[in-house]
Amino acid sequence: LGQGRRDSIAQLDWQGLQSCVANCQACSLSRTRTQTVFGVGDPAAEWLIVGEAPGAEEDKRGEPFVGQAGQLLDNMLGAIQLKRGQNVYIANVLKCRPPQNRDPQGEEVQQCDPFLKRQVELIKPKLILALGKFAAQSLLNSDATIGSMRGRQHEYNGVPVIVTYHPAYLLRNLMDKAKAWEDLCLARATMRKLQED
Ligand code: URA
Repeated sequence: LGQGRRDSIAQLDWQGLQSCVANCQACSLSRTRTQTVFGVGDPAAEWLIVGEAPGAEEDKRGEPFVGQAGQLLDNMLGAIQLKRGQNVYIANVLKCRPPQNRDPQGEEVQQCDPFLKRQVELIKPKLILALGKFAAQSLLNSDATIGSMRGRQHEYNGVPVIVTYHPAYLLRNLMDKAKAWEDLCLARATMRKLQED
Protein backbone atom coordinates (compact mmCIF):
# COMPACT_ATOMS: atom_id res chain seq x y z
CA LEU A 1 0.00 0.00 0.00
CA GLY A 2 1.38 3.36 -1.02
CA GLN A 3 2.51 5.50 1.87
CA GLY A 4 1.22 8.36 -0.30
CA ARG A 5 -2.35 7.08 -0.06
CA ARG A 6 -2.07 6.63 3.70
CA ASP A 7 -0.64 10.15 4.04
CA SER A 8 -3.34 11.75 1.94
CA ILE A 9 -6.13 10.00 3.86
CA ALA A 10 -4.49 11.21 7.09
CA GLN A 11 -4.99 14.83 5.91
CA LEU A 12 -8.71 14.60 5.21
CA ASP A 13 -11.36 16.29 7.30
CA TRP A 14 -14.56 14.44 8.20
CA GLN A 15 -16.42 15.38 5.03
CA GLY A 16 -13.43 14.71 2.83
CA LEU A 17 -13.01 11.33 4.46
CA GLN A 18 -16.69 10.50 3.93
CA SER A 19 -16.52 11.24 0.23
CA CYS A 20 -13.19 9.45 -0.15
CA VAL A 21 -14.77 6.33 1.35
CA ALA A 22 -17.94 6.68 -0.73
CA ASN A 23 -15.89 6.78 -3.93
CA CYS A 24 -13.21 4.27 -2.94
CA GLN A 25 -12.17 1.64 -5.48
CA ALA A 26 -8.96 0.56 -3.77
CA CYS A 27 -9.97 -3.11 -3.58
CA SER A 28 -12.29 -5.48 -5.39
CA LEU A 29 -15.04 -5.17 -2.75
CA SER A 30 -15.96 -1.92 -4.49
CA ARG A 31 -17.28 -4.00 -7.39
CA THR A 32 -19.66 -6.12 -5.32
CA ARG A 33 -20.93 -3.62 -2.72
CA THR A 34 -24.28 -1.89 -2.99
CA GLN A 35 -22.83 1.06 -1.10
CA THR A 36 -20.11 1.86 1.39
CA VAL A 37 -20.91 1.93 5.12
CA PHE A 38 -18.96 4.78 6.69
CA GLY A 39 -20.32 4.68 10.22
CA VAL A 40 -23.11 6.06 12.35
CA GLY A 41 -23.41 8.32 15.35
CA ASP A 42 -22.01 11.52 16.75
CA PRO A 43 -18.51 12.22 15.38
CA ALA A 44 -17.78 13.97 18.70
CA ALA A 45 -18.74 10.90 20.74
CA GLU A 46 -16.68 9.71 23.70
CA TRP A 47 -17.30 6.06 22.76
CA LEU A 48 -16.09 4.51 19.52
CA ILE A 49 -17.34 1.00 18.76
CA VAL A 50 -15.44 -0.82 16.02
CA GLY A 51 -16.82 -3.89 14.24
CA GLU A 52 -15.59 -5.97 11.33
CA ALA A 53 -17.43 -5.28 8.07
CA PRO A 54 -20.92 -4.61 6.75
CA GLY A 55 -23.16 -7.64 6.20
CA ALA A 56 -26.05 -7.97 3.77
CA GLU A 57 -28.43 -5.73 5.70
CA GLU A 58 -25.78 -3.05 6.33
CA ASP A 59 -24.80 -3.09 2.65
CA LYS A 60 -28.45 -2.50 1.75
CA ARG A 61 -29.09 0.24 4.30
CA GLY A 62 -25.73 1.97 4.44
CA GLU A 63 -25.59 1.81 8.24
CA PRO A 64 -23.45 -0.44 10.45
CA PHE A 65 -24.95 -3.09 12.71
CA VAL A 66 -28.57 -2.97 11.58
CA GLY A 67 -28.98 -6.74 11.17
CA GLN A 68 -29.22 -9.48 13.79
CA ALA A 69 -25.77 -8.83 15.23
CA GLY A 70 -26.75 -5.17 15.42
CA GLN A 71 -29.74 -5.97 17.62
CA LEU A 72 -27.47 -7.78 20.00
CA LEU A 73 -25.02 -4.87 19.88
CA ASP A 74 -27.83 -2.46 20.78
CA ASN A 75 -28.67 -4.71 23.74
CA MET A 76 -25.02 -4.85 24.78
CA LEU A 77 -24.83 -1.05 24.63
CA GLY A 78 -28.10 -0.78 26.54
CA ALA A 79 -26.65 -2.96 29.28
CA ILE A 80 -24.11 -0.23 30.00
CA GLN A 81 -26.61 2.61 29.56
CA LEU A 82 -25.49 3.50 26.05
CA LYS A 83 -27.63 4.13 23.03
CA ARG A 84 -26.79 4.22 19.35
CA GLY A 85 -26.34 7.84 18.38
CA GLN A 86 -25.94 9.13 21.94
CA ASN A 87 -22.29 9.73 22.73
CA VAL A 88 -21.46 6.65 20.63
CA TYR A 89 -19.98 6.34 17.18
CA ILE A 90 -20.09 2.96 15.42
CA ALA A 91 -17.75 2.05 12.56
CA ASN A 92 -16.17 -1.02 10.98
CA VAL A 93 -12.69 -1.99 9.87
CA LEU A 94 -14.00 -2.59 6.34
CA LYS A 95 -16.38 -0.10 4.78
CA CYS A 96 -17.61 -2.55 2.12
CA ARG A 97 -19.36 -5.89 2.47
CA PRO A 98 -17.26 -8.96 1.70
CA PRO A 99 -19.24 -11.34 -0.56
CA GLN A 100 -21.23 -13.96 1.41
CA ASN A 101 -19.95 -12.23 4.57
CA ARG A 102 -16.64 -14.06 4.32
CA ASP A 103 -13.76 -12.90 6.51
CA PRO A 104 -11.93 -9.75 5.46
CA GLN A 105 -8.74 -10.51 3.53
CA GLY A 106 -5.36 -9.01 4.38
CA GLU A 107 -5.24 -6.80 1.32
CA GLU A 108 -8.73 -5.44 2.02
CA VAL A 109 -7.86 -4.62 5.62
CA GLN A 110 -4.64 -2.93 4.51
CA GLN A 111 -6.44 -0.74 1.99
CA CYS A 112 -9.36 0.14 4.27
CA ASP A 113 -7.67 0.46 7.62
CA PRO A 114 -6.38 4.05 6.99
CA PHE A 115 -10.04 5.16 6.90
CA LEU A 116 -10.72 3.76 10.36
CA LYS A 117 -7.46 5.22 11.67
CA ARG A 118 -8.45 8.65 10.37
CA GLN A 119 -11.91 8.28 11.92
CA VAL A 120 -10.22 7.65 15.27
CA GLU A 121 -8.05 10.77 14.86
CA LEU A 122 -11.02 12.95 13.99
CA ILE A 123 -13.46 11.57 16.56
CA LYS A 124 -10.85 11.55 19.34
CA PRO A 125 -12.88 9.11 21.44
CA LYS A 126 -12.12 8.65 25.11
CA LEU A 127 -12.48 4.88 24.73
CA ILE A 128 -12.60 2.35 21.90
CA LEU A 129 -14.53 -0.89 22.21
CA ALA A 130 -13.16 -3.35 19.66
CA LEU A 131 -15.63 -6.08 18.65
CA GLY A 132 -14.01 -9.26 17.41
CA LYS A 133 -10.59 -10.15 16.17
CA PHE A 134 -10.45 -8.01 13.03
CA ALA A 135 -11.13 -4.81 14.96
CA ALA A 136 -8.81 -5.78 17.79
CA GLN A 137 -6.01 -7.01 15.58
CA SER A 138 -6.09 -4.00 13.29
CA LEU A 139 -6.15 -1.42 16.11
CA LEU A 140 -3.61 -3.23 18.28
CA ASN A 141 -1.44 -4.37 15.39
CA SER A 142 -1.49 -7.87 16.81
CA ASP A 143 -2.38 -11.37 15.72
CA ALA A 144 -3.45 -12.49 19.19
CA THR A 145 -6.83 -14.12 19.80
CA ILE A 146 -9.77 -12.34 21.44
CA GLY A 147 -9.54 -14.79 24.31
CA SER A 148 -6.05 -13.57 25.10
CA MET A 149 -6.72 -9.85 24.50
CA ARG A 150 -9.97 -9.43 26.40
CA GLY A 151 -10.18 -8.66 30.10
CA ARG A 152 -7.64 -5.85 30.24
CA GLN A 153 -7.02 -2.43 28.84
CA HIS A 154 -4.97 -1.84 25.70
CA GLU A 155 -4.10 1.33 23.88
CA TYR A 156 -4.19 2.64 20.35
CA ASN A 157 -2.35 5.93 19.78
CA GLY A 158 -2.99 7.00 23.35
CA VAL A 159 -6.65 5.96 23.31
CA PRO A 160 -7.65 3.15 25.72
CA VAL A 161 -9.01 0.08 23.93
CA ILE A 162 -11.18 -2.67 25.43
CA VAL A 163 -11.57 -5.84 23.40
CA THR A 164 -14.55 -8.18 23.42
CA TYR A 165 -16.28 -10.82 21.32
CA HIS A 166 -18.10 -9.81 18.16
CA PRO A 167 -21.90 -9.92 18.62
CA ALA A 168 -22.25 -12.19 15.55
CA TYR A 169 -19.90 -14.63 17.30
CA LEU A 170 -21.91 -14.35 20.52
CA LEU A 171 -25.08 -15.27 18.65
CA ARG A 172 -23.44 -18.60 17.84
CA ASN A 173 -21.51 -19.03 21.10
CA LEU A 174 -23.86 -18.22 23.94
CA MET A 175 -21.38 -19.57 26.48
CA ASP A 176 -19.10 -16.59 25.92
CA LYS A 177 -21.81 -14.01 26.65
CA ALA A 178 -20.83 -13.90 30.32
CA LYS A 179 -17.29 -12.92 29.36
CA ALA A 180 -18.60 -10.25 27.01
CA TRP A 181 -20.67 -8.91 29.89
CA GLU A 182 -17.50 -8.65 32.02
CA ASP A 183 -15.80 -6.81 29.18
CA LEU A 184 -18.67 -4.33 28.93
CA CYS A 185 -18.46 -3.71 32.67
CA LEU A 186 -14.72 -3.14 32.35
CA ALA A 187 -15.36 -0.70 29.49
CA ARG A 188 -17.94 1.19 31.53
CA ALA A 189 -15.66 1.35 34.58
CA THR A 190 -12.76 2.52 32.42
CA MET A 191 -14.90 5.26 30.90
CA ARG A 192 -16.10 6.40 34.34
CA LYS A 193 -12.51 6.82 35.44
CA LEU A 194 -11.62 8.72 32.26
CA GLN A 195 -14.59 11.03 32.73
CA GLU A 196 -13.45 11.84 36.27
CA ASP A 197 -9.99 12.94 35.10
N1 URA B 1 -21.02 -6.96 11.74
C1 URA B 1 -20.07 -6.01 11.74
O1 URA B 1 -18.94 -6.22 12.14
N2 URA B 1 -20.39 -4.81 11.33
C2 URA B 1 -21.60 -4.50 10.90
O2 URA B 1 -21.79 -3.37 10.54
C3 URA B 1 -22.58 -5.51 10.90
C4 URA B 1 -22.26 -6.73 11.32
